[in-house]
Amino acid sequence: MEKFRIQGGRRLHGEVGVSGSKNAALPCLAATLLASAPVILRGLPRVRDIVTMERVLETLGESCAHSEGATTVVAGSGDAYHAPYELVRTMRASVLVLGPLLARRRRARVALPGGCAIGARPIDFHLQALAQLGADLRVESGDVVAEASGGLRGGEVSFPRITVTGTENLLMAATLARGRTVLHNCAREPEVEDLANLLLAMGARITGVGTDTLEVEGTEELSGADHLVIPDRIEAGTYVIAAVLAGDGVRVSGCRPDHLSALLAALREAGCAFSTDADAVVVPAQRGPLRAVSITTTEHPGFATDLQAQFLALMTQAHGASSVTEAIFENRFQHVLELKRLGAAVEVEGSTAHVHGPAALDGTTVMASDLRASAALVLAGLVARGETLVDRIYHLDRGYEAMEVKLNALGATVERFNPGRYL
Ligand code: EPZ
Repeated sequence: MEKFRIQGGRRLHGEVGVSGSKNAALPCLAATLLASAPVILRGLPRVRDIVTMERVLETLGESCAHSEGATTVVAGSGDAYHAPYELVRTMRASVLVLGPLLARRRRARVALPGGCAIGARPIDFHLQALAQLGADLRVESGDVVAEASGGLRGGEVSFPRITVTGTENLLMAATLARGRTVLHNCAREPEVEDLANLLLAMGARITGVGTDTLEVEGTEELSGADHLVIPDRIEAGTYVIAAVLAGDGVRVSGCRPDHLSALLAALREAGCAFSTDADAVVVPAQRGPLRAVSITTTEHPGFATDLQAQFLALMTQAHGASSVTEAIFENRFQHVLELKRLGAAVEVEGSTAHVHGPAALDGTTVMASDLRASAALVLAGLVARGETLVDRIYHLDRGYEAMEVKLNALGATVERFNPGRYL
């Protein structure tokens, strides 16, 4: 099982480029199931979750061809409709094929995604809303079995709680439903907006993009399109935090600073003197002590839950007491125990982690548990004394393209190695 070996204390400087957004690429790939002609997607990140989604699409009869940074997805002639457990269990975002399959092939069989390290993560809101568009759904031996023999029909849906992939599933389903659909209490994450822009390019009729109410007039069919996915705001935020933590002047380029406003506001409050231009965040060496800042994760445009672990790692080096409250998921503090092994002073009470800094960190072996927790451990390893080993970095590879390559290009010393089968 691969690990990272990190030599702490190296200062970062130079420029790091941000890859395409994993969480925009996943729904955009699923949306190709709606198209009656090839769809070209550009800027897809080379990460494991994208490979998994392409395998799901190929199981459903589509073909994905790659050339010069573009992926062309061609719909198959078949009417396959089963996304199997062995794929779905490795990536819960596979449930994003449910809406498109129902809309275009009028049936779907998708394994119920299990829970994961950060919570139960049910999909009840997705299923309730699809039923309101006329789908018949049941659970059969761990699979969602769904049919819409007469096709989906438009309807009015209000999500009981904001759900990103729930919004995306329903938006895709509504594009081919008969009549008008109104979706209330929608997620406003940039990745939802990016999906909507792809669907519009495919000929979908959507209004309210970027707001919490989306209106869709169903159409008979959707054409192909050529779409560049947005940059990954979570990867960008991770490198901005790395630059604050261990940087002597780092430019995080090819990103959308406007997608990072909550993080940048918290960093400004902490006394970081960064600057931004259209597609970059420039972080100078930190002058003076970092101030402790408290945050609570909320849906976009609030502080992203996917940056919570990374920000908490930063706060272990800030002067004073800060509280980090996780209000989206019920169990997203897996990284805290590992950070404490490095010497961080953090106590979790319910959904809030209380951090006291600055704490001197000493390198040791730590274990990644989920995608963003593993990023937090790498960040801590950059400033820990001595050597830090991060185990189970396959979590990291799900959502970060070549993280060690990008960090080493900035001056870090991160080695990826596999100690062999028996360790
Ligand atoms: C998306 O997950 C992201 N994944 C997650 O990123 C991100 O953390 C999350 O949104 C929140 O921003 C993708 O976009 C592929 P939700 P999603 O539905 O859609 C509850 C990463 O690191 N809920 O917005 O699954 C749910 O349990 C990943 O890249 C229900 O109860 O999240 C959670 O508490 C991790 N029933 C809350 O709502 C439902 O039917 C928000 O979940 C759906 C959700």
